Amino acid sequence: MTGEEGGTAPLHLKEALTVFAQCLEHQQRAGRKSVWLVPEVREQLKELPNLIRRGAAAAVPAPEAETPPQKERRSTPAPEGRPRAAVREEVPPPQRPERESAAPAPWDEPGSAGLGARKIEPLQTRGETNAEKIASLAEQAEHCAACRGLGTLRDIMVFSVGNPQAELMFVGEAPGFEEEKQREPFVGPAGQKLTQIIQAMGLKREDIYISNIVKFRPKIDGVKFQGPKNRKPTREEMDAAVKYVMAEIDVIRPKVIVALGATAAEGLLDVEGSVGQMRNQFYSLKNIPVMVTYHPSYLLRQQGLRGRRMVWEDMLMVMEELGLPISEKQRGYFSKS
Ligand code: URA
Repeated sequence: MTGEEGGTAPLHLKEALTVFAQCLEHQQRAGRKSVWLVPEVREQLKELPNLIRRGAAAAVPAPEAETPPQKERRSTPAPEGRPRAAVREEVPPPQRPERESAAPAPWDEPGSAGLGARKIEPLQTRGETNAEKIASLAEQAEHCAACRGLGTLRDIMVFSVGNPQAELMFVGEAPGFEEEKQREPFVGPAGQKLTQIIQAMGLKREDIYISNIVKFRPKIDGVKFQGPKNRKPTREEMDAAVKYVMAEIDVIRPKVIVALGATAAEGLLDVEGSVGQMRNQFYSLKNIPVMVTYHPSYLLRQQGLRGRRMVWEDMLMVMEELGLPISEKQRGYFSKS
């Protein structure tokens, strides 16, 4: 039926609903019995009858389905720093409170918070290949006056590791004791956990690009010998260093970025919140989908299955976004039944 055929809803709403219904049918044909809608989409759908009645349907964007081919999905990114609307499949809804519409999240107000509000100095790179460009960024970070000038970071720089052509990029907060010793991100206990996650995805650590927001280990109490104690970087430290990871993203142009933990999410997306609120949905940074998930050190602290299950749910979404094959065995890891 078209808008001219006597329906009350404008044509584009009907088109959007037809596409949405087609996506759901596609899921059904693929054998899926349920889909899960992010809260924003659920709210929009609840509003539909009112909008149709008021003839104000022009304000309703079509919900974006999760499974169309990747190019299609990536061509309609959400505004920077804002979660993308998505229909998700087979993943049980996370147990978290829905956001009150009266209390918008920071990314609901473009310009007031989120990436729109932050000025990040663009960096020039040298070289032809991605590896050369990344090396030129590492050289600049070594002499980062804003970082070193704070006096709160240690001297040894730890830049990044991995494949400069990677489709998947992990971003942590800052190097710790082991990372500083070996001058490589994520090589301590949390790094070993991250490597296990990467392997569970059917990938090798060398396939991935791994970096941190802050390139120097944060000092504790200003002492020279702080032993293995680590601390999270401050907002000030992240603000001084964030231009490097942004420039790395511009060089690598991965298909998906994973922010490990709330601190990394804050540094990367300029949003504040708990991982519980941010995870299991894609944000958009430079038109690249960003998944926020728990930091591997959280999994080391948490003995139960719950944390691992949530990280794995997030990684399944990342694998789908990358178009990676997912076996039944992989789908079943940490499943409740
Ligand atoms: N934690 C991080 O966030 N980054 C590392 O490199 C190591 C631990």
